[in-house]
Amino acid sequence: MKKFTSVNDVTDSNALAASALQLKKDPYAFQQLGKNKTIGLVFLNPSLRTRMSTQKAALNLGMNVMVLNMDKEGWALELEDGAIMNGNSVEHIKEAAAVIGQYVDIIGVRSFPGLKDREEDYNEEIFNKFVKYCGVPIVSLESATRHPLQSLADLVTIEELKTKARPKVVLTWAPHIKPLPQAVPNSFAEWMCKANVDFTIAHPAGYELNSDFTQGATITHNQDEALADADFIYVKNWSAYEPYGKVLPGNEDWMLTNEKLKITSDAKVMHCLPVRRNLELSDEILDGPNSVVIHEAGNRVWAAQAVLKAMLEEL
Ligand code: CP
Repeated sequence: MKKFTSVNDVTDSNALAASALQLKKDPYAFQQLGKNKTIGLVFLNPSLRTRMSTQKAALNLGMNVMVLNMDKEGWALELEDGAIMNGNSVEHIKEAAAVIGQYVDIIGVRSFPGLKDREEDYNEEIFNKFVKYCGVPIVSLESATRHPLQSLADLVTIEELKTKARPKVVLTWAPHIKPLPQAVPNSFAEWMCKANVDFTIAHPAGYELNSDFTQGATITHNQDEALADADFIYVKNWSAYEPYGKVLPGNEDWMLTNEKLKITSDAKVMHCLPVRRNLELSDEILDGPNSVVIHEAGNRVWAAQAVLKAMLEEL
């Protein structure tokens, strides 16, 4: 694999999930594969899980790891082609990405959307410039529209914990006070649409995702109807796609509670984290027996390790 930016870069997502679960059983079996190879993890935005799990995955494969918190420690980047750089930006992304590519064998990049200009975000302008100029294989650590390492870890978690061949999986919108990207729900949807699951998306009217990511999903505005007989519930807030990046008033009653869990098939509750307690998800769910959010976060290591292993095998 030369590029891991979406489920479309993966030939067989089930095989990749199986590889992750195999690595979980035997984490150090491929320590020679990454010997004398370096990954550079470039963050234009904050991270806990993606940073630490990808570092751990690379170390398990014997790789060296370099982390650059570009937003805090790097030069201010210019992104515009042809810009006269007489303002605050110090280095053009053309040089920055190409130079990082001189120091590493694989690059990981995190670049969130601005949530102001939908076309700019959905064209993945920053991320694609890294792809264009770095000259080495690239793994998305979350881009403006997708978070594939999270989605692979989510698939791994469902495969590991399911008790029936084709479980019912529900992605349900949750309240939040800030406009959040659509990257996690977009990505989760496109991975679930290719997985062997019965997949439903529930959200209030006005929070429709871009239909490119939801082909094959059942979509409803009725949360109770969606939750009925669910085996897995994936809780996530996102801002509106239209009007782009906005939080719409109301919908506080969409927070998942133990009362709502009663209509599920004793569903396991997932969330990518970080989570705002008692806003997105109640204490009673997060501290209760149905929550698998910590287990899910643990699986981030094995998902990242499966991806890096597949990339190292083609270097
Ligand atoms: N889920 C996730 O990507 O977490 P971080 O933003 O902390 O990396």
